[in-house]
Amino acid sequence: MKIKVLGSGAGGGLPQWNCNASNSKDARNGHQFVAPRSQSSIAISTNEKDWVLLNASPDIRQQIFDTKELHPHEDGPVRNSPIQAVILTNGDVDHVTGLLCLREGHAFNIYASNRVMETLNANSIFNVLNEEKVKRHITTLNTPFEVNGPSGPTGLQVTPFPVPGKVALYLEDNAQGENFGTQEGDTIGLEVKETATGQCFYYIPGCAALDEALKARITGTDLIFFDGTLYTNNEMLDQGLLPKTGDRMGHMNMSGEDGSLALLQDLNIKQKVYIHINNSNPVLRDNSDERKIVEQAGWQVSYDGMEITL
Ligand code: MLT
Ligand code: MN
Repeated sequence: MKIKVLGSGAGGGLPQWNCNASNSKDARNGHQFVAPRSQSSIAISTNEKDWVLLNASPDIRQQIFDTKELHPHEDGPVRNSPIQAVILTNGDVDHVTGLLCLREGHAFNIYASNRVMETLNANSIFNVLNEEKVKRHITTLNTPFEVNGPSGPTGLQVTPFPVPGKVALYLEDNAQGENFGTQEGDTIGLEVKETATGQCFYYIPGCAALDEALKARITGTDLIFFDGTLYTNNEMLDQGLLPKTGDRMGHMNMSGEDGSLALLQDLNIKQKVYIHINNSNPVLRDNSDERKIVEQAGWQVSYDGMEITL
């Protein structure tokens, strides 16, 4: 199974269009230690011909352009694409709006939880994806499903499962109290398995806490992509970017005793990769102390174009 990181950044990417803080400024100016990053999404293939995307970021057009595996097959018909399916992990802008760029009559399947599919169904702009060709499949939590393309199986079996999180920002309802109306299925993780080999990995780009269920699930796995939004809970406030903590945004931080570095340390996970890394995060600087700390703890900081073969 081949995995390609199409985008490693969180919402806004790096540089973020309206951000003048040091990471964005340096990425914009071509700083040697601060590479630009597009918004998070990965592509997976079992035959290196057909590809399944996890989330569809607003940067998808450029991501496809930059990834030759996602170009139309040159020996195929005049309109074709290797993209067979898109599986969504939440309804966030950085994860669903790329669907709009996949219009133009290509047939593929969308898989999402009931909650996320309700959001797509409620927003008529997504009807630009002709329902005759683009089928919407509601997945059931904790129930594996075969991922199919329009022409058949992709060789992947995926199990969606709930993780602690928050409803998408634009769906927050202040009247619903401190969880803003969040329900199960608003944020999910995915277990992705290659049917033929049984090789398996986890994709969890948004996660507010490591609960016992999640801990038990990921213990001993070969590979995990995990929420790398923030290094510290307060970094957006400290940098004057946004008056919100990681807790408030539904993202656990990397550092500290409640952070992912500490909590995932002893779970016997072979390969740990941060993804959905916010432009405020100091690990985005290749030469930062924080980058050194996460690498010494055995983590990789994903980058656009990163490839992993399982
Ligand atoms: C998030 O990851 O918390 C969201 O993408 C934030 C947003 O919608 O800007
Ligand atoms: Mn996001």
